Amino acid sequence: MTKSPLVPITDIILNEANPRGIEQDKFEQLQKSLLMFPKMLHLRPVVVDEANIVLGGNMRLRALIAISKMRPAEVNMMLGKCNGYAQKTELERENLRNYWAKWLKAPVVEILHASQLSEEEKREFIIKDNLSYGAWDWDMLANEWEPMELEEWGLDCWQPDNGGEAEGNGSAGSSSESGKHGSLSDKFIAPPFTILDTRQGYWRQRKAMWRERIADFGESREGTLADGETNCMATINNGVSLLDPVMAEIVCRWFGMEGGAAFDCFAGDTVFGYVAATLGMSFTGIELREEQARLNNERVEGMSAHYICDDGQNVAKHIAAGSQDLLFSCPPYYDLEVYSDKPNDASNQPTYEAFLGILENAFANAITCLKQNRFAVIVVGDIRDKEGYYYDFVGDIKRMFKAHGMPLYNECIIVEPIGTLPQRVQRYMRNRKVGKCHQNVLVFYKGDIKAIPTTYNEITYASEDLAAFGMDNNDTTE
Ligand SMILES: C[S@@+](CC[C@H](N)C(=O)[O-])C[C@H]1O[C@@H](n2cnc3c(N)ncnc32)[C@H](O)[C@@H]1O
Repeated sequence: MTKSPLVPITDIILNEANPRGIEQDKFEQLQKSLLMFPKMLHLRPVVVDEANIVLGGNMRLRALIAISKMRPAEVNMMLGKCNGYAQKTELERENLRNYWAKWLKAPVVEILHASQLSEEEKREFIIKDNLSYGAWDWDMLANEWEPMELEEWGLDCWQPDNGGEAEGNGSAGSSSESGKHGSLSDKFIAPPFTILDTRQGYWRQRKAMWRERIADFGESREGTLADGETNCMATINNGVSLLDPVMAEIVCRWFGMEGGAAFDCFAGDTVFGYVAATLGMSFTGIELREEQARLNNERVEGMSAHYICDDGQNVAKHIAAGSQDLLFSCPPYYDLEVYSDKPNDASNQPTYEAFLGILENAFANAITCLKQNRFAVIVVGDIRDKEGYYYDFVGDIKRMFKAHGMPLYNECIIVEPIGTLPQRVQRYMRNRKVGKCHQNVLVFYKGDIKAIPTTYNEITYASEDLAAFGMDNNDTTE
């Protein structure tokens, strides 16, 4: 085997017989990975046969071809979106930009000629080059690497050892669909099943795009996290939980209405307000902490969303009775995250009962603000008491809403990213506590169920919405 010098990428031929494919989001990850770490290409050259057909490194070559079609400004923009880029020094960033600017003028790749292989050996190599025999040490990964970094580098932290997309939504949400955004997720964002899987490629891709738009990184709530767990089916970002924007989008699309009014009596971050306003709803958030309400208002300036600093129990003082089309809330989960030391902060109450009392006052008042024939969507996860038993917080919320005239209409389980759970679960399992990686999306209804089809339009996910997210809308039939 001889190592060749750099050759123009146009001299290398992609292997049509390569049995491996790549999902769009992974493909972008690969491009980013190469952009951020070009030395990797030197350490792992593309393996070609005597006719320069790729035997190993098809994906890398495809990614390089895609990069070669970009303008330097586009490359710089993509670099800017890479995790870790902002953390580099100005000199390191400049070196990377210069490297790629130069490369774009003459796109080359380092190759390794595997010319002595028989046809049979070539076939064997193509398969074996893609196999992985080792297993990740998830403890070590969780302890010594950042989950965000691992994701950026292409490691599916939530799906050990299968190297691909997570399964779990049945056929319409399975990996084969997730790559091409098949009809159910095209139409409904995610298949409208009782399992909502945030680990799917289409979900992660969409979430990244929303995050980039919203740019709320939870700065105003740093240090509120009580344990490794989070609420609000959130991911940990800088140590605080942030609402998943795709979840917010789904809530607006499925249970809200364009032109309608949405509100939340435990508002927290800007995510829901931002998403609701983007989707044509107005939004009012009641938030107890002044700095959070102020920051939120700055973030949504010019949008049809605003935040009021007050106790959520006073919601009916700010919002007229029977005026709202959607109540959304992801309230504090007792003391899982303590937000402030204010006496009426639900998250710092001396007892679970006192905590529930605040929630019940707020939600009972909120329900009066809703019009007839409308939904309330409450995202909650159960929490354990000091002994370790579950409180049945989810059950308490269901009972609370029913008692105030809104029985349960749907319940979805939202499956969350695994994050550092593999590390923590070792500790939990000493007490036989199973690692919790889901939350409950409770949908309550006020009014006459028969009015739903006439009150709510049929859900059609407009092509311009897909275009805004850079997705094709080639099949919307089901
Ligand atoms: C779980 S967060 C809200 C959800 C939001 N999506 C998030 O992740 O930040 C709960 C919010 O409720 C606020 N809060 C706590 N007690 C409150 C009360 N009595 N009235 C209004 N807001 C309250 C907290 O300050 C916190 O921002």
